[in-house]
Amino acid sequence: MTTLIMIALALFVIGSMTYAYAYRGQARWSGFGEYVRKGWPIFTPFNCLLYIFTKAKARPAIMNMAEFPELKELEENWEVIRKEAIELMAEGGFDQITDKESASYYDIGFRTFYKYGWTKFYLNWYGYTHESAKRTCPRTIELLSKIPQVNGAMFSVLPPGGQLTRHLDPVACSLRYHLGLDTPNDDRCYISVDDTKYSWRDGDPLLFDVTFLHFAHNDADKSRLILMCDIDRPMSWFGHLLNLPYKWLMKATVVPNTDEDKRGFANKTFSTLVPLLEKSKRLKETNLPAYKALKYTVNGTLMLILAGLIWLFLKFIFWLL
Ligand SMILES: [Fe+2]
Repeated sequence: MTTLIMIALALFVIGSMTYAYAYRGQARWSGFGEYVRKGWPIFTPFNCLLYIFTKAKARPAIMNMAEFPELKELEENWEVIRKEAIELMAEGGFDQITDKESASYYDIGFRTFYKYGWTKFYLNWYGYTHESAKRTCPRTIELLSKIPQVNGAMFSVLPPGGQLTRHLDPVACSLRYHLGLDTPNDDRCYISVDDTKYSWRDGDPLLFDVTFLHFAHNDADKSRLILMCDIDRPMSWFGHLLNLPYKWLMKATVVPNTDEDKRGFANKTFSTLVPLLEKSKRLKETNLPAYKALKYTVNGTLMLILAGLIWLFLKFIFWLL
């Protein structure tokens, strides 16, 4: 019996990776190597499990907003939200994340976005509402608190010349919502989701699935300010049950804006690891054998942690069966 289950799981893993690589959506990787390096294949089987239990309205790459009336209130109050975001930005509320001395700099989920000047300010994140946001953006927080489907929210700024290179997000836990607040209203400022181009406009919403390939550019001469939210993936009750491990994982990724906010486990770990990684790069130049010993120790530890997580996941599946 156990052997049959293991064979079925292995077939599901192979099948789901084949589907994600070759059949899902329109946009394609340049080759299987790129998918392995950038497509987060380790998460693919579990993501596919969630796709199976996802409701029809949430299956396209870009959703039809008419099917998500619960988000309408945000759209109707976009000017209220914009006012708070612009005031916050004028007071320097977005500047903390560029300071390596600040805990807010160490954001494992969005670290790759910093390269081109992207900045953000968290409002809430998977069960935690930031104290700094309650203080600076009370009306936005109040609006968000009325919508239980919102798992997380932040203000996000993409400056002129900024870009997010082509990628997909690893976990299918939530859908991503964008509400244009203060944008260039220009076609040169856009996001491409699964090869469909969308240009932000003030007051207009966009809801899409981040596990399709996407990238963004701001080639206009003005910054793009939006409200960005994680919206609960609409699924059957069983799908919601399966989604719980992802939500626990996301809780660990709470990143503070200021010292008054809570820090998630990943933020604490990441802020310790980054200076060590920078030191290890210097070690590579001065003492190659020591660098290699360190690299294999770290990689080995990570593999052990990963193996432990997979073992726990399999135990969970067997428990469900
Ligand atoms: Fe993304």
